[in-house]
Amino acid sequence: MTTYVDATSKKKRMHGVIPLHGEEGFAGMRKAGALTAEVLDLVAPMVEPGTPTERIDRFIYEFARDNGAMPATLNYRGYRYSSCTSINHVVCHGMPSDKPLREGDIVNIDVTLIVDGWHGDSSRMYTVGAVSRKAERLIEVTYECLRLGIEAAKPGNTTGDIGAAIQRYAEAERTSVVRDFVGHGIGRLFHDEPNILHFGNPGTGVELKPGMIFTIEPMINLGRPQVKILNDGWTAVTRDRTLSAQCEHSVGITETGVEIFTLSPRDIFNPLIARTA
Ligand code: MF3
Ligand code: CO
Ligand code: CO
Repeated sequence: MTTYVDATSKKKRMHGVIPLHGEEGFAGMRKAGALTAEVLDLVAPMVEPGTPTERIDRFIYEFARDNGAMPATLNYRGYRYSSCTSINHVVCHGMPSDKPLREGDIVNIDVTLIVDGWHGDSSRMYTVGAVSRKAERLIEVTYECLRLGIEAAKPGNTTGDIGAAIQRYAEAERTSVVRDFVGHGIGRLFHDEPNILHFGNPGTGVELKPGMIFTIEPMINLGRPQVKILNDGWTAVTRDRTLSAQCEHSVGITETGVEIFTLSPRDIFNPLIARTA
């Protein structure tokens, strides 16, 4: 059973209870989302051979601090960084380290900044120098998956319509959808209801209603969908060691469709104007 409550009355995650946000929530998410998008723009030139990911992480921390924000991942369930940096076969939750990036790497940088209590959560793929054609193609497929997921996010559709759109395209392109991690409601809470699966059947799940705010963050593998967690307790990698890519936006359902809160101010990460080729 799903119930919907006014977001202002919801302080902690409650199973099956989906908050509906008003103008205050949308305004808060716009501000947090814009700052997250800005820092994801700013790190782009740092992603080059020789850069250790902990240098990028430090930049993100300092940017947040200088702009009155807090990285949500810092000290979250024992996680100690301001970002996740997931390289090549790392699916998600890669930890920044002193290991330098290498030519040909593909890396996902995932940042959540908290501004005035609201969480802007977004991630993008970055390429280190020249990358292989198959890596390039995986990134293109993953961005298109996010675009299709966002396109399916509108009132009257269901969470299953989002997952189905993503899965249908990913599998038609002979890639696979990771099942172990999902998108999530977001707002004053980092991870809230509903879960947004990136696979599934049309018409299943819960109905999307104006005021719902959540992330869509498909993880797409070149090989099989299975993942395993390394001994550090965080790093998720593909079991078959094939490449994985991910991208994420925080979005809100409006009366007529969807608003993307984490669009790049420089428009370098707008799936709605992405090329289709
Ligand atoms: N930002 C991730 C997400 O999209 C969550 C990272 S939690 C962490 O939901 F602890 F690993 F940082
Ligand atoms: Co994220
Ligand atoms: Co997220």
